[in-house]
Amino acid sequence: MKLSKVILTGVVGLVSLGLAACGGGGGGAASGDGSADAGSGETREFKLAFNQTDQHPQYKAGVEFGKRLEEATDGRYSIRVYPNEQLGTQSDVIQNLSNGTVELMYVGGPVMEGFNKDFAVYNLPYMFASQEAQREIFRDEELNADLFTSIEESKSITVLAALFAGVRNVYNSKGPVQTPEDLDGMKIRVQQSDSQVRMIELMGAVASPMGQGDVYSALQTGVLDGAENNETVYNALKHDEVAKYYSYTRHLMIPDYLLISTKALESMSEEDRQALLDLVPEIQQMADDGFQDFIQESKANSESIGAQFNDDVDVEAFRARVQPLIEETVNENEVRQTLYQAIQEANAANPAS
Ligand code: GCU
Repeated sequence: MKLSKVILTGVVGLVSLGLAACGGGGGGAASGDGSADAGSGETREFKLAFNQTDQHPQYKAGVEFGKRLEEATDGRYSIRVYPNEQLGTQSDVIQNLSNGTVELMYVGGPVMEGFNKDFAVYNLPYMFASQEAQREIFRDEELNADLFTSIEESKSITVLAALFAGVRNVYNSKGPVQTPEDLDGMKIRVQQSDSQVRMIELMGAVASPMGQGDVYSALQTGVLDGAENNETVYNALKHDEVAKYYSYTRHLMIPDYLLISTKALESMSEEDRQALLDLVPEIQQMADDGFQDFIQESKANSESIGAQFNDDVDVEAFRARVQPLIEETVNENEVRQTLYQAIQEANAANPAS
């Protein structure tokens, strides 16, 4: 497994800003910028914002990240994970990450399109043939280096790692979905990006982009007929109580990203920064590993309260419908074509099982 590549991606980012040369906090020198002082015994606590529950593998991986960072930096740095949107929606938190008041966050792929539209390639429907194909792409440092550092200068955001975030399917309060025609006229929540709006429209529904935290009440009051997400969100956010029909359209396998404020990275001594970057592959692996079990538990929980999982879906019909979105997005520029080509190769090497 090519786990070291993501670390290198972080390093490439630092080099691109010339940060590695300037040394940030200067080996633990006292600072007025919030960096930890090696000599003072102070611990600087990084905030890690998360919009899901403390049962999620990404939460657990974040907690472990904190423990290991504290150990690796002799207590100069620690991490506190804030679950359940405590620090705000992903769209709000990413602004705070950009201005440096939040240091770390997990974010859904579509939010990144607001900063660099090339991220959209990884958010396209039916893009990855298997979790293994996706994993191969996400571990490819050379392929991702430019993309993952592309908003360091403009937004002070560095992508540390891309993480598996399940497979997304459509669910609603009306009935099982088999074909695109079944979605006709239904208002379906999507994540807030152009690619997601266009996708659900091509799939046959009416798009309703909104933050994750607002979905439950919108389903309950009938403002929405449904949404699309993986089984874990469906259960953890209790959407299964108000939208009983979950249908396996399998239209998306999109990443969550672990982001860090470039300013925060810059403020660390070279040694501490390297210690943090060295931990990323372990954390990435940990967040991925727990996911399949979490999906199975979530599905069983939803079934126990009467949710119905329908696997009789004409996936090929949905795949055909969204083809124009794939072409429009990928043909836009060479960066996207390169990413797309790499995905095709990873898919060929790791077909669906
Ligand atoms: C998943 C994903 C989140 C995202 C959410 C959403 O839970 O992991 O990052 O915010 O879906 O649909 O908004």
